[in-house]
Amino acid sequence: MAELSVVIVAPDNEQRAVLQVLVDGTTVARTVHTCASFPVAASDPIARRVRAANPDVTLIDIPSDNPAPALRAIEILHQEMPDGGIFAVGTLDQPQVIVNAMRAGAREFLERPPTTSDVLEAFVRVSTAQRRGRSEGVRGKVFSVINAKGGNGATTVAVNLALALQSAHGQTALIDVAPLGHAALHMNLKPVFYVSDAIRNVDRLDSSLLDSFMTQHSGGLKLLAGTNVPAAIDPATAEFVKLFDMLVTQYRYVVVDASSRFDSASRLIANLSEAVLLVACTDVASLWSAARVQQYLGETGSRERVRLVLNRFRKVAGFSESDAEAAVGAKLLWRVPNQYFAISTAIDRGTPVMEQRSSEIARCFAGLAQELTSNDLNVKREAWSMFKSV
Ligand SMILES: Nc1ncnc2c1ncn2[C@@H]1O[C@H](COP(=O)(O)OP(=O)(O)OP(=O)(O)O)[C@@H](O)[C@H]1O
Ligand SMILES: [Mg+2]
Repeated sequence: MAELSVVIVAPDNEQRAVLQVLVDGTTVARTVHTCASFPVAASDPIARRVRAANPDVTLIDIPSDNPAPALRAIEILHQEMPDGGIFAVGTLDQPQVIVNAMRAGAREFLERPPTTSDVLEAFVRVSTAQRRGRSEGVRGKVFSVINAKGGNGATTVAVNLALALQSAHGQTALIDVAPLGHAALHMNLKPVFYVSDAIRNVDRLDSSLLDSFMTQHSGGLKLLAGTNVPAAIDPATAEFVKLFDMLVTQYRYVVVDASSRFDSASRLIANLSEAVLLVACTDVASLWSAARVQQYLGETGSRERVRLVLNRFRKVAGFSESDAEAAVGAKLLWRVPNQYFAISTAIDRGTPVMEQRSSEIARCFAGLAQELTSNDLNVKREAWSMFKSV
């Protein structure tokens, strides 16, 4: 593995020295520059010096008593060097700081003090991603799917959306965190490992271990299967964050089936998501529930990310889409037609409707995937080059 160049940003002298010894002790990386303070703007001398060093990895130590300047530094350096990997180092007892560090652009979160093997494994992940030719700064996007009310169709939407993303762009994973996981059944898969295995091993999770927990579908989609006993796993926030941190470094798109899971884990996943698809039907009870779920997720800051998906959609006289939006307090993203026969047969057979390429319902899910990825730079480039070739 080629030697990685590393910049260390840590205001505490001791921390800085410890991190430098760790980095240089791995023998696969070398400290090329250290900073004793955080950059406060892209144009300040500290940011310029880090940029000039052009590191493969920037290690940023987050002081627990005042994390804000470190988080701001992650944001600035991530914007300035989208291709450089940023590792945050901090304590695991402040979940919101971990979430914020990831949202600001950190691709790894290492518990302070990191061990040599923590640092080494993180470096190996960076260089594996480099070998795969993925841009270092690009983290995958998480789309989570949650029900307004049990049985509204979250699993159907999650499974078919994941298959549509895999078919259009590849590198997609489906993570089943439902209270009882049905996604494997929908795809006729027989998992050997489950989300609980990934959580149990989260501290030593690297790309190959994560991959060994996934069950592959014929088209290449990877499933991290949900629990098959109705006792939902209840991982600590930091464990979930670590798992998702790993997932977004390995996959371009991560779809999460939360189905009817309403707890701190589903709130956390909503926080980590690019968009939360709230699946509801047009009956009064479902719309009422959707409004409650929207409020529940909104309390932890996800309100703006929640988009309504109306499942089993039928035109109802006197009831418009804007009525549904107003009732729920979320913008309508997509409508899935009411096709009970096609969908229930697909579930019973374990052959998702997305596999029936030419059907109206398959086109509907392909359209949903396209809508969610339309602002993606790489996707736009692909669309453009396809256009050029005809
Ligand atoms: N667009 C649709 N048209 C008609 N029926 C549908 C549609 N989507 C889902 N269904 C039916 O609804 C039922 C529940 O679907 P699914 O398992 O996807 O729901 P869920 O909301 O994930 O359920 P749970 O609450 O158990 O997690 C299935 O029997 C399926 O056939
Ligand atoms: Mg479900």
